[in-house]
Amino acid sequence: AATEDNWSLKDQIAKVFEVSLKVTVPDEPEVAPLIAACAKKEFGDYQCNNAMSLWSKIKGKGTEFRGPQPVGQAIMKNLPTSDMIESCSIAGPGFVNVKLSRQWMAKSIQKMLKDGIETWAPKLSVKRAIVDFSSPNIAKEMHVGHLRSTIIGDTLARMLEYSKVEVLRRNHVGDWGTQFGMLIEFLFEKFPDGEVSDQAIGDLEAFYKASKQRFDGDPEFKERAQQAVVSLQGGEEKYRKAWAQICEISRKGYGKVYERLGVHLEEKGESFYNPYIPGTLDLLREKGLIEESEGAQVIFIEGKKIPLIVVKRDGGFNYASTDLAALWYRLNEEKAEWIIYVTDVGQREHFEMFFTAAKRAGWLPTDESKYPKTNHVGFGLVLGDDGKRFRTRSSEVVKLVDLLDEAKTRCKAALVERGKAAEWTAEELEHTAEAVGYGAVKYADLKNNRLTNYTFNFDQMLNDKGNTAVYLLYAHARICSIIRKSGKDIEELKKEGQLILEKEEERKLGLHLLQFAEIVEDACTNLLPNILCEYLYDLSEKFTSFYSECQVVGSAEETSRLLLCEATALVMRQCFHLLGITPVYKI
Ligand code: ARG
Repeated sequence: AATEDNWSLKDQIAKVFEVSLKVTVPDEPEVAPLIAACAKKEFGDYQCNNAMSLWSKIKGKGTEFRGPQPVGQAIMKNLPTSDMIESCSIAGPGFVNVKLSRQWMAKSIQKMLKDGIETWAPKLSVKRAIVDFSSPNIAKEMHVGHLRSTIIGDTLARMLEYSKVEVLRRNHVGDWGTQFGMLIEFLFEKFPDGEVSDQAIGDLEAFYKASKQRFDGDPEFKERAQQAVVSLQGGEEKYRKAWAQICEISRKGYGKVYERLGVHLEEKGESFYNPYIPGTLDLLREKGLIEESEGAQVIFIEGKKIPLIVVKRDGGFNYASTDLAALWYRLNEEKAEWIIYVTDVGQREHFEMFFTAAKRAGWLPTDESKYPKTNHVGFGLVLGDDGKRFRTRSSEVVKLVDLLDEAKTRCKAALVERGKAAEWTAEELEHTAEAVGYGAVKYADLKNNRLTNYTFNFDQMLNDKGNTAVYLLYAHARICSIIRKSGKDIEELKKEGQLILEKEEERKLGLHLLQFAEIVEDACTNLLPNILCEYLYDLSEKFTSFYSECQVVGSAEETSRLLLCEATALVMRQCFHLLGITPVYKI
């Protein structure tokens, strides 16, 4: 959904056609222009696809037109003069093809160079969104599955933020629930005097495992653990304190990972919503949504065999009741219009069920094109080379920190091998290894359609050829070095130089640059970061064709071509930024 000040090429073209449609079919004021990039480039850059559907709409109403093609002809004839358009033609049953003017294209790119990439941000009609992502469970180590949620969620948040949406980045950590009874009791056993330190607990995951063993092996302990849950939920001081200590240690662990990944999140865990659950369930009860079933309280969902349990048989709340309360809070207290949940596809059913319940309660419109709305952004598994779920040799889950360490180490080794240790400062080496290593891990994940499983493979993701972050980061650095080597002050050129898109390769690259805004919009509305990755890879390919056809430094067109280099570098950097990847300037 585009608004007035949305700069996207597609929308600019749509505006021109809107004028024509008003003149062509004055009795159909509701008709919006249908604009798409041309599939066959020899016809033009964009096409207007209204003629066919317009024809079927008006043919029964005594129109003077005799078929879709004349409708297309009229749309073309009624186009206002626009400096955007160089020429138009009609194809098939009334498609109007548009070829953009090179002058206009060049001018638009130059304007961006002067005013900044911010001016190319799409503007969405949503004001405030929540992205619920990462969301690990306390006391368990973050693993590669959480990596996906963290980087996909971060990218979506970044794209929305760029599009001027206020984003609340929420870490919905699993910090409540029955596992805490066991953890707290175990903590009391280990540290009877209550003096707990991070070092003492050490590996929190091992702590979890040990307490689970104790829980499973000793009925007496199990009973105490169950009692501890009651004491904790009753708000008993001693139990609250132990709970807070465990959460804090866990939080420090995640914090380190987020810092390395450059991801910012605000924690509002399950415990936060706990006080809101009874009130939320009352509201649902008033609407008659909640029923008794086998001792539990449930919401039946049409088309689903098993109902959504909101109060367990023992009277306790669960994941679903928490999510309902969180949804209520997000809609009513935080006034979010769009709420996006990033988890593995395995949880799809859970989300579908409580979204449906919220619709039945009238919290969400049934028409999914209306706001407020919710989306579950599901993603597939991370696989190992054997095609099975990614595990270490000892068949443990793979820890995120280990992956990041290895990516960095491998990148550093590659840089050293290329003699960079002698050429660069130690800091530069470190910084580049990190940017490339972490970037590679992120990009390898984001470039796939998120719903598919993907294979984690260091050799592949760290390859400097093909569709990898390494290749793209180097491509960007190479463009920067072309500009540096020219010895020209690019800021001066931006002010005074002139961009001319003369050669076909220059025009193609220019057109691709101009499509940036609509691509970001597309990636946002469909919640698909891989769309942006494809665009970025395409951009570097188009740059390569341009560079192999057109001499830059030392040519008669040097100024213009340097400007085109700079615009490419700027758009690439913005892509990196949106993907959470740190650009490098030297290789
Ligand atoms: N903690 C959950 C898990 O790791 C993810 C939570 C997702 N967010 C939500 N609102 N349910 O599986």
